[in-house]
Amino acid sequence: MSILSGKNVLLAITGGIAAYKSIFLLRLLVKSEANVQVLLTPNAKDFVTPLTLSTLSNRPVLSDFFDKNNQNKVWNNHVDLALWADLFIIAPATSNTISKMASAQADNLLLATYLSSKCPVYFAPAMDLDMHKNMANKNNINKLISFGNKHIPVNSGLLASGLVGEGRMSEPNEIIDFIKNDLRRELKLFKKKILITAGPTYESIDAVRFIGNFSSGKMGYALAKVAIKLGADVTLISGPTSLSLNDDNVKVINVITADEMFSEVKKQCKSSDIIIMSAAVSDFKPKFSSTKKIKKENKNLLSIELLENIDILKYLGENKKNNQILVGFALETDNEFINAKLKIKKKNLDVIILNSLNDKGAGFGFDTNKVTYINLNGSVKKFKLKIKEEVAKDIFDQILNDFNEKI
Ligand code: CTP
Repeated sequence: MSILSGKNVLLAITGGIAAYKSIFLLRLLVKSEANVQVLLTPNAKDFVTPLTLSTLSNRPVLSDFFDKNNQNKVWNNHVDLALWADLFIIAPATSNTISKMASAQADNLLLATYLSSKCPVYFAPAMDLDMHKNMANKNNINKLISFGNKHIPVNSGLLASGLVGEGRMSEPNEIIDFIKNDLRRELKLFKKKILITAGPTYESIDAVRFIGNFSSGKMGYALAKVAIKLGADVTLISGPTSLSLNDDNVKVINVITADEMFSEVKKQCKSSDIIIMSAAVSDFKPKFSSTKKIKKENKNLLSIELLENIDILKYLGENKKNNQILVGFALETDNEFINAKLKIKKKNLDVIILNSLNDKGAGFGFDTNKVTYINLNGSVKKFKLKIKEEVAKDIFDQILNDFNEKI
């Protein structure tokens, strides 16, 4: 999952030797699951071929206002293109195009589309060092920045001319990182550290048996996905599940027992801004666990002596940092509301998410859940049955609303 996933991106390539790097940039954008429409200036076609770019982007490459090969003279509507775009990337941006952008010239499709655009515009200049240093060019770059365009600065190094200095276009991976970070900065949980636990814990009886529960981990993973989308850096401590989550902004720590979960939570909790304990932690563990399989002839092991596990959430409540937001879950079958409210006090929580096993389609294993959000001031919000990612969105919206000042 990437912040660029599903975004409509106009990748505009102008006529400079750095255009060859834009082929890699296009690959990275497509890999990030963006929908990419390539625009070329007529001069850019001398450096890269439309065939390469259309093959990689899976769309015809656009360069002219009219498709000259088409008898019907189809108009490539720059206004529609501009409105379609969520992002406009001009890489490489030559001195010529920068100058035309700064003075509102529109003598090719790329420039006309730029002038019509409302979305964020990123431009990555590339030119020889003296052209780059030239005051007229510097002024144009500054003008574009002052108009709100986002400047991806050049690198220093060996240039196509053989000279060494500032003027190389940023590398494709640097351009992608620049854009991703810039987009994330706008998000409500940007750089916030969020710790989420998910799934069941397994408490071993012997080499092949355990005490566990039916938790699938889906709710915790959905919370992690939504937190990432909101810009957070997430640590997900997961009990045994069949789920996985890959993203630059999540660290997944797999555990099996409640003790292991506790030890990982303890390591992470101090640096977390929000902690959400959605794991179904086993309350008890066998006092003795055999490393070998217990044979059925062993009749004196028909009953299992249990020990209570540490209540991780209670520990977190007792050791809560200033400004930390602590969210617990409560899965209840009887007196749901009263029990959930009691848990807020008992465990020093800011929020409890109540889900009831009495609701159809809610709870363990389902893709849906129906929750009630209760905060420490007693404010209650009941949500409808929804898919778990929607439920996770509701929970974060509510947290952002209630704890705006702390976050
Ligand atoms: N929890 C925990 N450590 C435990 C048990 C539960 O951190 N050993 C957390 C769960 O992750 C959840 C919350 O406590 O966020 C409530 O869990 P729940 O099982 O509903 O309640 P308990 O506190 O265990 O109480 P009871 O089983 O009596 O309802």
